[in-house]
Amino acid sequence: MGFYVTTPIFYVNDVPHIGHAYNIVAADTLARWHRMRGDDTWMLTGTDEHGQKILRTAMANSVSPTEWTDKLVENAWKPNLEVLNVANDDFIRTTEDRHRVGVQKFLQRLYDAGFIYHGEFEAEYCVGCEEYKTPGDLVDGVGEYEGQSVCAIHSRPTETVKEANYFFKLSEFQDRLLELYDTRPDYVQPASVRNELRSFVAQGLNDLSISRSTFDWGIKVPWDDSHVVYVWFEALMNYITAIGYGVDDEQFERRWPGNHIVGKDIARFHAVIWPAMQMAAGIEISERVYGHGWLLVGGEKMSKSKATGIEPKQITEVFGIDAFRYYFMSAIHFGSDGSFSWEDLDSRYHAELANGLGNLASRVIAMVNKYFGGEIPQVPSEDALAELFRSETDRANSSIDEFQIHDAVDAAFSIVDRLNGYITETTPWQLAKDESKRDRLAEVLATNVRGLGTAAILLAPVMPESAQKLWRGIGGADEVTDQRIQNAHEWEVPARVDELSPLFPRIEQN
Ligand code: MSP
Repeated sequence: MGFYVTTPIFYVNDVPHIGHAYNIVAADTLARWHRMRGDDTWMLTGTDEHGQKILRTAMANSVSPTEWTDKLVENAWKPNLEVLNVANDDFIRTTEDRHRVGVQKFLQRLYDAGFIYHGEFEAEYCVGCEEYKTPGDLVDGVGEYEGQSVCAIHSRPTETVKEANYFFKLSEFQDRLLELYDTRPDYVQPASVRNELRSFVAQGLNDLSISRSTFDWGIKVPWDDSHVVYVWFEALMNYITAIGYGVDDEQFERRWPGNHIVGKDIARFHAVIWPAMQMAAGIEISERVYGHGWLLVGGEKMSKSKATGIEPKQITEVFGIDAFRYYFMSAIHFGSDGSFSWEDLDSRYHAELANGLGNLASRVIAMVNKYFGGEIPQVPSEDALAELFRSETDRANSSIDEFQIHDAVDAAFSIVDRLNGYITETTPWQLAKDESKRDRLAEVLATNVRGLGTAAILLAPVMPESAQKLWRGIGGADEVTDQRIQNAHEWEVPARVDELSPLFPRIEQN
């Protein structure tokens, strides 16, 4: 099976914050999971570099847009993937030639097929969103913008765009889009986003202006070089230009269609405009669009422009990369908004990682060393727990099929929690005092080791380094990622435990 997963491409007007990181880690977790299933997996991320927002930022910093984007990509966005330990297979920049070539081919195809026309236009535009706004998207301004209408997302006035430019016949796709939502209920998820988009489309669609002629920081319209392509229209195509659309048919056939992990605020672009573009160009519709929720800080969508931005490394430098990944993948229901707070992160780190998982691992390994000289008893797990390891493995895997990452992590942690309870109930240190209970002690410890191994396999996509350390600790010789995640309950128990490197050290707050 193939699995192609994408993040949005990020605007490089600023450095990454944890809202972006949340999205990237989710896509990476899904990709790592599918790799461990043996699927032909591909993960794409990248940067969205054209348009007025970037152009104005560069100008405000007195550099050319090329200098600005090169600097941000190399110094901030690519290093961010290291900060988060992301195993992406490709990184696309919309300023690359491969993107331009694919965009121009795609556009020419739409033009030749009669889906693009030239027309007059006047509309309100938010440069922050890089989006045309309808009156319903605007709210009353406050403070310095009192008495004006402002963009509901950026709280700043929109600009009136009056131009002659090219239009995409989006309005023609209403029926086919409704049919898509109705015949493929999984196509847009979660249901809240799907319902919202369905009713948006049911109200009727306007054609979309897809070019601009008042600035030139963009990709030229192939048949009219006085226009550049509207930044969103070209950005959506990154998902196919990166896999060889129009250039490398073999690669394209192998990867496409993709799964798009996006914030709910940009689901409309991905599940209304993008499928209409795909229909017009005659390519397969994406596999899925998943609109996750927002990270809230102090009750508001976290954003740099509102000064609530937190950079990922502020967290990873204190708690480590795996704790960052674990926290965001487990504490927030994927698909809902979630509030970030340092207190919550700190308390989950200590309760769930340090005391829950870390402590369990070191106790089990210490007991195997103490009571069996490091040799893992080669006996089957206790039935009820063996059944739990199997059912949680199944639950984790089917949760991933539904993109319910938090539920997959929960499945792994219910094994951890159960084992902690099991140790308290069975008191191996008491069993060890009684030679006649040696077989029972062997069973209890063998069950713990097997359960820990299952948890390590299931957690590897979320916490790659800690899972590998744990795997080593219980004697795993190879890489934990060599295990098949759908059989996480059936791994082959090694002869001996090994040394456990510290997993989650206590964090002293200053
Ligand atoms: N460049 C466009 C995407 C083009 S994709 C063809 C864009 N870029 S962005 O950098 O502004 O945002 C990228 C993603 O980050 C979006 O999915 C957005 O929802 C997400 N997030 C930005 N702030 C966020 C939070 N506070 N919480 C969660 N996700 C957030 O839009």
